[in-house]
Amino acid sequence: MDNPTPHASNEPDETSGGRPISRKGLLKAAIVASAAPLLAGGGVALARDAASAGNGPLAPTPQCDDGDDTTPPQMEGPYFKPNSPRRTSLVTPGTPGVPLTVSGYVFGRACRPIPGALLDFWQADTNGSYDMARYAFRGHQFTGPDGGFSLTTVVPGLYPGRTRHLHVKAQAPGGRILTTQLYFPGEPRNNTDALFDPELLMTVRNVGNGRQGTFDFVLDVAQTPGPTDPPTDPPTEPGTSWESGTSYRAGDRVTYGGVAYRCLQAHLAMPGWEPPQVPALWERG
Ligand SMILES: [Fe+2]
Repeated sequence: MDNPTPHASNEPDETSGGRPISRKGLLKAAIVASAAPLLAGGGVALARDAASAGNGPLAPTPQCDDGDDTTPPQMEGPYFKPNSPRRTSLVTPGTPGVPLTVSGYVFGRACRPIPGALLDFWQADTNGSYDMARYAFRGHQFTGPDGGFSLTTVVPGLYPGRTRHLHVKAQAPGGRILTTQLYFPGEPRNNTDALFDPELLMTVRNVGNGRQGTFDFVLDVAQTPGPTDPPTDPPTEPGTSWESGTSYRAGDRVTYGGVAYRCLQAHLAMPGWEPPQVPALWERG
């Protein structure tokens, strides 16, 4: 299940030329803009954006859906080892195999990036073998301030009974561990591997003699949208009168005294918390 535009806002946005655009799209666009200097040299693309967009500039694509579209778990399998080295590259210049980079972002349920998230990767070598004696093709890293990560490795080889895949454990600081696997598009065995899940497909493109994979994780981490975030989608229609005793969510719209307001953070409305009284909860507009 990959919803390209799951909940487009009803509010036209000036950055989209009047075209409805989702909050996640805006958040992602902001991340792209802020991360541009980092990405320019490596040609790193945001996960799954390239899937159907050809080679042109890529439109931001929502990757998470306010909590109901978190990255699904998968079995750990028999080859995990704890205490992997902390490193973003699993190869040296002489490592056999097709070079592969995997990059992307780790988001929470409100689609905000999670800095400092742990990602622990392990995989087979180019011949389909796991190193159980030492730590070849095993490594953990932490997402940067923008929630981004990048792994340098080789394309894992095939081994009996499975399609091509990477293993990974992802954990927000203090959060639960997500154990899952990432898959490669266009693999014949994707059709016969019972574990294969299309939600876990990376976007992969050929670059030179190697491949670039991208994937964004969405962890089951509650997040409160910031006051500067675009409104939660879908927003309620304007015109509902503010009422004490109502639970409002960020992005909800009400009128009070003939003036329109937008909710900045979720709360239960109480007497004395009328929108004009509490700028922390309501802004005009
Ligand atoms: Fe495996």
